[in-house]
Amino acid sequence: MESNETGSTNQPQPNQTLPPALKRKPILLYLSSILVLFLAISFTFTKTNFYKTQHLRYTLSSHSHAHPTFLQTLLGFLNPTPKPKQAPAPKPISISPFCVLWMAPFLSGGGYSSESWSYILALHEHMKNPIFKLAIEQHGDLESLEFWEGLPKYIQKLAFELYQTECRMNETIVVCHSEPGAWNPPLFETLPCPPGAYQNFKSVIGRTMFESDRVNSEHVKRCNQMDYVWVPTDFHVSTFIQSGVDPSKVVKIIQPIDVKFFDPLKYKPLDLSYIGKLVLGTATRNLNSKKEFMFLSIFKWEYRKGWDVLLRSYLKEFSSVDGVALYLLTNPYHSDGDFGNKIVEFVEESGMEKPVAGWAPVYVIDTHIAQTDLPRLYKAVNAFVLPSRGEGWGRPLVEAMAMSLPVIATNWSGPTEYLTEENSYPLPVDRLSEVVEGPFIGHLWAEPSVDKLQVLMRHVMSNVEEAKAKGKRAREDMIRRFSPEIVAEIVTNHIQDILQKVS
Ligand SMILES: *[C@@H]1O[C@H](CO)[C@@H](O)[C@H](O)[C@H]1NC(C)=O
Ligand SMILES: *[C@@H]1O[C@H](CO)[C@@H](O)[C@H](O)[C@H]1NC(C)=O
Repeated sequence: MESNETGSTNQPQPNQTLPPALKRKPILLYLSSILVLFLAISFTFTKTNFYKTQHLRYTLSSHSHAHPTFLQTLLGFLNPTPKPKQAPAPKPISISPFCVLWMAPFLSGGGYSSESWSYILALHEHMKNPIFKLAIEQHGDLESLEFWEGLPKYIQKLAFELYQTECRMNETIVVCHSEPGAWNPPLFETLPCPPGAYQNFKSVIGRTMFESDRVNSEHVKRCNQMDYVWVPTDFHVSTFIQSGVDPSKVVKIIQPIDVKFFDPLKYKPLDLSYIGKLVLGTATRNLNSKKEFMFLSIFKWEYRKGWDVLLRSYLKEFSSVDGVALYLLTNPYHSDGDFGNKIVEFVEESGMEKPVAGWAPVYVIDTHIAQTDLPRLYKAVNAFVLPSRGEGWGRPLVEAMAMSLPVIATNWSGPTEYLTEENSYPLPVDRLSEVVEGPFIGHLWAEPSVDKLQVLMRHVMSNVEEAKAKGKRAREDMIRRFSPEIVAEIVTNHIQDILQKVS
């Protein structure tokens, strides 16, 4: 749901030595029952113990076929409805022996998680004559039961199905969809990707991205161990190559957006008066009883997301008599969840002068919004705004665009791949600034303009027809350029090229 492309939320201790199970070289790489184990474990432990999981996995996987009812029982438990309404049509079984094993934080939530699901769903639903079998594996981050439970039933069912695909190592192309620190040998506790020596697989692809202007040398080294490195945008192609990643390995593979799921015609708006908490200003009623103009922003509470820029622009430009409201859907990132206090504190320390009429209202939504309810949230507002300092891709932006919302977003890094003057309001950058903390310390990223954001927010609410036209164009562009069938074809073509090259 939310973009956290660094994937570094849970950084456990370094783990250079692999457990003995992984040093063996099994001829067959069985993937069956792994999800079952992961889920069974996540019911009892809040954090996955890597060694325990590995141990269970390798001891139990050889017995799994003897206990077919174990899976059925768990499926029944998790999936009370035997026939989900939206279950995709049965797929023709691939006659190809080849496999694509996609390893990603499928059960974790966050940017890499929803991104990897978007590829899997695209491939599953749009491969006409499958030239490979598809398999998935949890990797790169901790599992979240809350996220799993918020997934639509047909996705849960597909997860079970794809976890059972059996592949031979020598016939498998592995996609490691995570930050390079999770690649074999991983720098923290996670199932290594690839799950064995690189040369045992047909080909190994790293799929990653960063939000700053460069890639650090450890990550460059890890990228160059891969046969290919897939990145989502031209911005990443150039920053990766400039940082020293072998240009012959770097391939741009854009990201799909599920334009059928994010379709404004399918949804009724969510009633925000129940879920939004007023944390600043007063809820005003307009004189002519018109509904207020609502801005929405979705982000993890971290400096990179530019929430300080957003609050500054919004509070300087508007007051309580403007008939405007700002809704922030946010969740903690290395911080506690008391966003109301954080916002009040920020405003007090900012030196901004309170308008005579009082602050324009700011609402925080800090309850978990299930993936299935997300379209209704976009549907409830008039515009989406995110003055981020850097983005890998910016999933909430493309989701909002698919929902035909006018979008104001920083014109730098990943989003330059799809933001245009015609389909959105690209926010100009004042200058690049040095990152002073976190994993990108010393790199550069963008400093979006507070003044220009003020102007754009005022412009959007004063030119509603123009804004609607841009929203309409945004959805058209998403359908034309980033539909699942289009991206499925791009991915399939690259896989086909690889199979032809190495066989
Ligand atoms: C992979 O290994 C198996 C078992 O050794 C063998 O039968 C099969 O032909 C190999 N596949 C390829 C594509 O080399
Ligand atoms: C946005 O950035 C792109 C690429 O850097 C640039 O070509 C374009 O002119 C910019 N658009 C605006 C509105 O600043």
